[in-house]
Amino acid sequence: MRTSLGILVLLTAFISCQDKATIGPDGDLSAIPYKPIPFELEEPDRFVKMQAFEENPLTSAGVALGRQLFYDPILSRDSTRSCSSCHIQAFGFSDTISVSLGIENRKGKRNAIALTNLGYHYTQFFWDGRVASLEEQALVPVEDSLELGNTWEEVEGRMRQHPSYPVAFRAAFGIDNTREIDRRLVAKALAQFERTLISANSKFDKVLSGQAELTPTEERGRLIFFDESEMLPTGECAHCHVGPLLTTLTFFNNGLDNTDLALADLGLAGVSGNVFDRGKFKTPSLRNVALTAPYMHDGRFSTLEEVIEQYNKGGHYSKNESPNIRPLGLNEQDQADLIAFLHTLTDTSYLERQELSNPFLP
Ligand code: HEC
Ligand code: HEC
Repeated sequence: MRTSLGILVLLTAFISCQDKATIGPDGDLSAIPYKPIPFELEEPDRFVKMQAFEENPLTSAGVALGRQLFYDPILSRDSTRSCSSCHIQAFGFSDTISVSLGIENRKGKRNAIALTNLGYHYTQFFWDGRVASLEEQALVPVEDSLELGNTWEEVEGRMRQHPSYPVAFRAAFGIDNTREIDRRLVAKALAQFERTLISANSKFDKVLSGQAELTPTEERGRLIFFDESEMLPTGECAHCHVGPLLTTLTFFNNGLDNTDLALADLGLAGVSGNVFDRGKFKTPSLRNVALTAPYMHDGRFSTLEEVIEQYNKGGHYSKNESPNIRPLGLNEQDQADLIAFLHTLTDTSYLERQELSNPFLP
């Protein structure tokens, strides 16, 4: 992944010395050499290999461009907010407030989802699963009036006239003219960068590969989480938060509200129209969960203690509540141990990885 940074540095140097000279009249870019270099994704052994995206193969220039766009407030109407305003690397690419703030501090409706291992989700993005791909997802925040509050026409205009983006789009996608810069290519570049957001280096990963050991408390928590000990109560967590991604990526009513009554947010039912989907939400990954507070689709819980207390009570009964949500009978020690285990899912290297950080900072 070092190469992507190298490319970015080269690209920036290249752009700063030759931009105007290489863009021909009427935005002609064809004189600039186009030599795409496939991006070598470093995938963890325990993950099933990421499916190739034939429509949008990863290239070094594409990933580097996506990284710039992710951090660039140029996408927002008043140039104050970027994707990274709500998806902050230090917090596992989530933010720290219950519902995110867009331009002019407009309050959104939901909690920012921590972006982790997104390249392994192949459908149903957002809490309610309303879009099918990262390419489609990336189109949404720009025109969401509570997020970046812009129009795509405006963003396309800014990109085409920008001193460095046209050359970067040429390098990423081989376009011949600045006119070809459009929302589709912006979304493709963002999706390429997002597929490099791989986190698989937590203490728990190291335990699984034999490089670390859990403390007795963490181990007790693990046994409760995965229902692995007859001597301890079962947490039932791994029915839904399981595998290398720590999520089944499917939708459940995990008992937050009685979904037979009026609901502030219909969740999946708002998309499917099926009453049985009322209050079902996409199961979030628990990677870096100690850093992604507040929790749930509306950020209603500020701490992991509150989350565990809720699960321990068995939630609010309603017709479509998952049968795996039920009073668990965890005592104080069990709850503390479960939380200690959740802390082992933090991957500090992910929070610091240079290639994922803000390229505009020195
Ligand atoms: C104002 C805050 C804000 C901004 C800006 C923002 N997001 Fe988000 N993001 C959110 C929220 C809130 C959600 C959950 C929304 C929902 O489910 O309806 C979300 C969800 C997502 C998801 C879905 C993840 C999943 O697991 O399903 C992706 C991907 C994502 N954002 C990427 C981006 C990208 C790329 C940008 C920039 C173009 C961006 N976001 C800008 C707040 C923001
Ligand atoms: C039936 C499936 C299911 C089970 C069992 C389950 N969860 Fe969840 N979990 C979910 C869903 C779905 C959400 C998102 C719900 C929402 O936001 O409305 C969630 C959210 C969470 C969150 C909030 C994450 C975030 O980023 O906001 C945490 C933490 C969590 N679960 C931990 C656990 C633990 C610990 C257990 C076991 C005690 C557990 N879960 C059991 C499905 C489940």
